[in-house]
Amino acid sequence: MSGEDSKRRTNFITIPDDTAGYRLDEFCIPLHYEDDLSRVLIPAGLINDRIERLARDIVEDFDEDGLVALCVLKGGYKFFTDLLDKIKGLNRNLGRSVPLAVDFIRLKSYVDREKAWTKDDKSSGQIEVIGGDNLKNLQGKNVLIVEDIIDTGKTMQKLLGILESVKPKCIKVASMLVKRTTRSSGYKPDYTGFEIPDIFIVGYALDYNEYFRDLNHVCEINEEGKKKYASK
Ligand code: HPA
Ligand code: MG
Repeated sequence: MSGEDSKRRTNFITIPDDTAGYRLDEFCIPLHYEDDLSRVLIPAGLINDRIERLARDIVEDFDEDGLVALCVLKGGYKFFTDLLDKIKGLNRNLGRSVPLAVDFIRLKSYVDREKAWTKDDKSSGQIEVIGGDNLKNLQGKNVLIVEDIIDTGKTMQKLLGILESVKPKCIKVASMLVKRTTRSSGYKPDYTGFEIPDIFIVGYALDYNEYFRDLNHVCEINEEGKKKYASK
């Protein structure tokens, strides 16, 4: 990274609130999900093309010091592998290259019992980082957090707080999707694929109760899908 001063990238694709998206019969959808979705919001091909540009922006912003790409599982796994494939492609073909290391974490949320009964119980939710190497290994490193979606932004702010305590050289965040929502904390990632309306979406590793991760387009789930895959 050429210093802490590098700016947040503001180039992203905006999917407007009044978007029609695409009809399911215009794309290939697994038969087992055909009745559970209302439309395709972002086709996999467009995701692929957008990631190609994100990879270019990232390679421009980091230098031969390299970076540790930190995948936030499970939702981040598709974006992570596709993004790293593109960065590796650039590394093979440009006159400069950015060494990559990888690590994988999951976030567990829990409610602080002390505060759980206050009116503010939602914001008292804490997160715990599970899996991954010892976070202390990130000290002095350039860290790129790779996340599927920023919704309110509160989870990412908590994760950043945890990671900052081990003193990386810098921490950047790449999120495939950012929701346009009035519930937003105001947090914005450094690299954004798409800004989307405030609707519940699935596919491209994003789930509804662990279903739909095996769908390659980002789609809107319908009422039937929510009912069929409601948590038991
Ligand atoms: N879909 C799946 N997971 C999510 C979403 C969503 O719309 N928002 C936050 N996590
Ligand atoms: Mg996520």
